[in-house]
Amino acid sequence: MKEINIVFSNDDRIQDDKNIQHIISVNPPNSCFIATLANDMVVIAILSSEKYELDDIRMMAGDISRKIKQYKFKVGKINVENVFHTFDYYEKGELVTSFVEGWMLGDYNFDKYKTREKTEEVKLAFSDELGIESYINIGIKRAKATAFTRDLVNEIPKELNPSTFPAYMKEAFKQTKVDVNVLNEKDLSEMHGVLAVGQGSAHPAHFLELNYCGDQSKPLVALVGKGVTFDTGGVSLKVRRNISGMRMDMGGAAAVAGAVKLLSDTHAQVNVVGLIPVVENILDQRSYLPGDIITYKNNISVQIGNTDAEGRLILADGLIRASELGATYVVDIATLTSSARQALGSEIAGVFGDEKLANAIKSLGKENGDFAWPLPLNNSYEAYLRSAHADISNISSDPAPGAMIAALFLRYFITDARKWVHIDMAGVKERSKERGYYAQGASGYGARLLADYAEFISSTKQ
Ligand code: BES
Ligand code: ZN
Ligand code: ZN
Repeated sequence: MKEINIVFSNDDRIQDDKNIQHIISVNPPNSCFIATLANDMVVIAILSSEKYELDDIRMMAGDISRKIKQYKFKVGKINVENVFHTFDYYEKGELVTSFVEGWMLGDYNFDKYKTREKTEEVKLAFSDELGIESYINIGIKRAKATAFTRDLVNEIPKELNPSTFPAYMKEAFKQTKVDVNVLNEKDLSEMHGVLAVGQGSAHPAHFLELNYCGDQSKPLVALVGKGVTFDTGGVSLKVRRNISGMRMDMGGAAAVAGAVKLLSDTHAQVNVVGLIPVVENILDQRSYLPGDIITYKNNISVQIGNTDAEGRLILADGLIRASELGATYVVDIATLTSSARQALGSEIAGVFGDEKLANAIKSLGKENGDFAWPLPLNNSYEAYLRSAHADISNISSDPAPGAMIAALFLRYFITDARKWVHIDMAGVKERSKERGYYAQGASGYGARLLADYAEFISSTKQ
């Protein structure tokens, strides 16, 4: 077994150490390099004097695991005391969890369709494992839930589509406390947004509920995730050169599924329901059309201006369902608007809704790596949603504040806006290149964030 030791130091004079015979690779900005030290290969991570955030530690761990894999090492070994000594401003437990999590995610690959270049796992070992097992396990669970989300998001639309989505969920949750409920035809017949958007597809639309109750006394938190397994735009067809990324338009649904997995794997004391409308938005002779009017179960009517603004239409059914089920707190998450991506890029999602809760999401994200930033909801822009013949339109008369308009649209379907937040993750669903613990492709965004939010809600008095 090819094993390599990893050593941390905050003294960069180590680079001048005479024992270092050969520096193979210097890797800024985390300043890790692989060196031959007294005939022994080691990874030396040299740190800057600035404080490392927990996510910097995850990123560094991810970089190291990927780097040493390139050198065909099978195991990387660290010494907790050495890590702890270097980052003495953190507790040992959180360091271990972060390191394990970043390591495993850095080792993630979606290569099931590759016929060559398959990569092998690179393990992390501790030279002093005693007393840290539980922290290792949390790191493993967080990485696995995020990898589960990534797998769903990366999966191709021929495999993962509205016909097969329920089976994916049933399989994933079969030996857990999570109950997977696929809505029957009658309940689905009242989900007018889901049915309209899905009606052009060969794959029948579905609505899934993932119930996890770790503590009945906790307020019910509904996590609503957009599950568009492919977004062609429908009749308002997308015309970009490469729209294969639109298979990832179920990133919200995958985040919800990942969060429920993480909560159940960690036996969290929460009461959560994941609500997932699943459709394919496709161009067909039966597709819904611009000009069509949908009247929702809560009696709000919506005229379609553009069939590409489909996400909000299916989320509306999810939000109505959340209040029917008596959810106290509601979060929805969706790859909703290109505007959110333009505003915040690929590393930060936009959060709308209650200011206090949106700020809580921001701080949780800063800790767990799923970064998010609050954006405003300007009431007077509601006028942009006016429609001549229905209560509202699904698009804005002024396209500029697209992400905010979408959020204002969703607010029509909320019963208590003081307990609601909306996360627009259109920008963060994927990474264009590997870096830190991110591989190219799905980021796995939202699994950790939603799980941590549910725990936060359930452990603090709001
Ligand atoms: N799924 C898209 C949003 C999107 C764009 C996600 C880019 C990820 C990357 C969504 O359904 C959409 O098409 N939104 C339109 C809405 C518009 C027609 C009002 C948009 O944002 O352009
Ligand atoms: Zn769309
Ligand atoms: Zn979409």
